[in-house]
Amino acid sequence: MCGIVGYVGSPRRTKDVLCESLRRLEYRGYDSSGICFVENGRSRVIKSGGKLENLFSKLKDCEVTSSLGIAHTRWATHGDPSEQNAHPQVSGPVSVVHNGIIENYLELKKELVAAGYEFLSDTDTEVISHLICDFTEKGNSLLESARKAFDKIEGSYAVAIMSDTEPGKIIATRRFSPLIIARNAAEFFLASDIPAILPYSREFIFLEDHDFVVITEDGISITDATGEVVNRTPTVVDWDPSVAEKSGYRHYMLKEIFEQPRAILDTLRGRFTGDMENVVLEDVDPSLLRKTQRVIIAACGTSYHASLIGKYMIEEVAGVSTQVELASEFRYRNIVTGPDVLFMAVSQSGETADTSEALIKAKKLGMNSVGVTNVSLSKISRESDCVITTKAGPEIGVASTKSFTAQVMVFYLFSIYLAVLRKAIDSNRAKELIADAISVSKLQQKTLELDEKLKDLSKDFHSYKNFIYMGRGINYPVALESALKLKEVSYIHAEGYAAGEMKHGPIALIDRNMPVVFIAPEEDIYYRKLLGNFQEVKARGGRIIFITSDEDFQLPDERDRKIVIPKSPYLVSPMVSVIPAQFLAYHVANILGTDVDQPRNLAKVVTVE
Ligand code: F6R
Repeated sequence: MCGIVGYVGSPRRTKDVLCESLRRLEYRGYDSSGICFVENGRSRVIKSGGKLENLFSKLKDCEVTSSLGIAHTRWATHGDPSEQNAHPQVSGPVSVVHNGIIENYLELKKELVAAGYEFLSDTDTEVISHLICDFTEKGNSLLESARKAFDKIEGSYAVAIMSDTEPGKIIATRRFSPLIIARNAAEFFLASDIPAILPYSREFIFLEDHDFVVITEDGISITDATGEVVNRTPTVVDWDPSVAEKSGYRHYMLKEIFEQPRAILDTLRGRFTGDMENVVLEDVDPSLLRKTQRVIIAACGTSYHASLIGKYMIEEVAGVSTQVELASEFRYRNIVTGPDVLFMAVSQSGETADTSEALIKAKKLGMNSVGVTNVSLSKISRESDCVITTKAGPEIGVASTKSFTAQVMVFYLFSIYLAVLRKAIDSNRAKELIADAISVSKLQQKTLELDEKLKDLSKDFHSYKNFIYMGRGINYPVALESALKLKEVSYIHAEGYAAGEMKHGPIALIDRNMPVVFIAPEEDIYYRKLLGNFQEVKARGGRIIFITSDEDFQLPDERDRKIVIPKSPYLVSPMVSVIPAQFLAYHVANILGTDVDQPRNLAKVVTVE
C-alpha cells in the first residue's frame, strides 16, 4: 500500500535519502509516486505515474538545495493511478502525502467546494490539503490547522505535511495507519515502515494514534491527542540493513526463499527450556491459556494458509478445538462465542486492516488474544494481549515465503506449549516434538538444493494456463499456499484442493492440458490415499508434478515429473514441502517475465479494507 517518507537534515542528502527511502518502500506496492521539497523558499512538487524510475528521471537534473522534504508511493484507492492523483496533493502553500482512506471525504469535499476550493484530483487526500490550507488562511499555525483538520476527518491515515507558510518544518500524524520516526546525529527521518529508513538509524519511535509530530532542524516534538507533549520511547531493532537488500540475488523473493532455514533458527532461538521439555513463549501469559476451550484464528492470504496448518497442529498436539477464519469475513459476521475462547490474529506485517479489525472485534466479544506477527511493534502486536513474534526478518518480496514457514513454526511451538500447559502430552512426547522442530532448518537447507531442478522443470510447465495443486491433511493448506504463490507472481490461474475433494467436482477439470502438482510427503498420514488420487488424475490424462519424499515411487508416464524432498516428521513437513512449490512459482514467473517482487495490483501491507 502507499508509503510515506520524510527527511530533515543536510541539503546535500535530501534528494538521495528521499529517493533511496522510496526505493525501499517499493515492495509495499505502488502505482505512482511524488516528492515535495523547498526551492527558493517555496514548495516544489514533482510527481509521476508508474514506476519510480519515471519520478527519478524527472528529478535527475533537479538540484535540490532544501534541507527537508516529503515523498510518497501511491497505491490507488480513490482515482486512477495517474500523475494528477499521485501525492503530494497540494492546496495553495500546503502539500500533503497520505496513506489510508478518508471515509467522510465526500461530505468534506462538498463543504470545501462550497467554500470555493477547486478539486484537481479524484483522491480523498485532496480534502486534507484543502482543509489545512483553509485553517491556515484563517490565521491558525500549521500545527493548529492540521489538528483542526483532523478533528473533522474520519477514517484511517498516516500523513506528512509541509507548507510554505512555515518552511523548514514537517508535521505528521496518524490514525490506524503506521508511521515511525527516527534520528541520527543531525538528521531526522519519517516513514511508513522500518525497512524504508533502516540504513540511517537503528532506533525507531512508533507514533501512536492521534499523535502529532513536528520535525525541524532543531529536533522532534510529539504531542498526543490532547495536545500534551509526550515522550515516546524508541525501540531498538537489531535488523541488519543487508537483510533488506538483495545481497546478490536477482529478486527478494528468491533471497527470502533461501533465508528460510535462518528464519526458522531465529524463530526457535531462546524458545526452549534447558531440559528441552517445554517451549518458552516470552510474552505469553500462561494464565490466559490454561483454561482455553477453543481457539479461533483469523488471518488473510498466506497468513490464513499458515493458520490452517496451525489448526491441524493445535488439534493434533494439544487436542483443543480450533477454527480458522478469513479475517475479512470474521470481522462482519455474527460470531458465536463461549467461555474461554482464545483468539489469534496472524499477520506478517501486523498492520493488515481486516486482521486488526477482527482482533478488535474478538476483544470486544471478550476473547483473550494472542498476536502472531513479524513486526514486533506493529498494530496487531500492540493490540493483542500477548504476542508471539516470527523472527523472519524484514520480508520485502510481495509474495510471502519465509514469513509463511516462520508462522507455521510459531504454530508448532504454540501447540506444544498449549499441550504441556494442559497436560495433554508428557515430557517424552514434548522432547520428541521439540527435536523435530530443531530438525526443520537442516531439512529446509537440503530442500533448497532443488532450486536448479525446479528451474529446469519450470521450462516445461510455464506455458500452461491453469494448474491444480493437491494435498491432504496438514499438506492440504500447503496446496492452497502453493497455488496462491503461482497465481500472484506468474498470473497463471491455479487452485489448491484437498485431494479427497476432487471427485466432488474439480476432477471434471482434468485433461492433458491440466498440470496437477501433488504435495505428497511419504510421511503424510494420508500418503496411501493420495496415491489413489494420483491414479484418478492419471486415468484422466493430467500431467503431474509429484513432490514427495518417497524416492522409490515410480512415475508411470514420462511426461510427469518427480521432485524428491527430504523425509520430515509429519507435523513439520509443510515447512519443507512448500519450498519446491515456492521455487516453481518463482521460476515460472521469471520465465514469463513478470515483476516478481512487485506483482501487478498487489501490495505488501494491506492497510485498507
Ligand atoms: C501472499 C501474501 C498475502 C499476505 C496477506 C496478509 O504472498 O503475502 O496474501 O499474506 O496480504 O498479509 P499479512 O500477513 O501482513 O497480514
